[in-house]
Amino acid sequence: MKKFTKIMALGLALTLAAGALAGCGGSGSSSKETEAPAQESAGTIVFGTNAEFPPFEFTTTEGVIGQYDGIDMAIANKIAQDNGMTAEINNMEFDSLLVALENGQVDAVIAGMTITPERQEEVDFTTPYYTATQVMIVPEDSTIAKASDMEGKEIRVIQGYTGETAVQELGYAYQSFKKGTEAVMELVNGKCDVVVIDSATAQKYVSDNEGLKIVEDAEAFGAEEYGIAVKKGNEELLTKMNTAIESMLADGTISDIAAQYAEAGE
Ligand code: ARG
Repeated sequence: MKKFTKIMALGLALTLAAGALAGCGGSGSSSKETEAPAQESAGTIVFGTNAEFPPFEFTTTEGVIGQYDGIDMAIANKIAQDNGMTAEINNMEFDSLLVALENGQVDAVIAGMTITPERQEEVDFTTPYYTATQVMIVPEDSTIAKASDMEGKEIRVIQGYTGETAVQELGYAYQSFKKGTEAVMELVNGKCDVVVIDSATAQKYVSDNEGLKIVEDAEAFGAEEYGIAVKKGNEELLTKMNTAIESMLADGTISDIAAQYAEAGE
């Protein structure tokens, strides 16, 4: 009798453990075939992203998670794996990501998202996993050499990105686009003078398009740190993510992944 009770207790403990894992599984996944209710999509973490930001997230024929590939996608995949779970991607507009998180449409947001005090009021961020800065992409023959040279020039930014905030703070007029590629096309077609965007993404656009170069200005544009966002108070998922990120930072996994995707672009 005693033994039986013990076994029952062990079974219950295992069930509870499985339930706890399942509990942080996703809700409202868009890319799943089965229309299971939120609680039943056990063992998955639904990550929201905006796959318009190479080398962090972009679409391809065979990506690391379905059609999605990039540094963030590889990190998301690894985080899920480390927790015995599967990563699923819900691709949407950048501006919608934090709302989707608050609504429970996604469990986490991984989108090369800079940790800012404003965003921290809405969501919780993991330990930073990548450091970046805003830079200026200009035509090779441009005379723009520092941020203040942008005054009076045709400036393009991406809507809702920290690059937009940075240009606003400098006090210059600009036009915003929904996608980085749209802004870069304006530059390639001679319709604007400069695009302000994150450094690694700028690097990718410059290597993919002839005749462009990057101009940095560390005084005007400070360092930015990317973090994964979770719903405010979701300590359980935040801890899982932080544990995975910290080990990937410590053993060099993240820098290997970053190097791999940077090279792929050259
Ligand atoms: N780091 C910038 C920000 O947080 C740009 C991020 C854009 N990411 C994307 N997946 N489109 O605003």
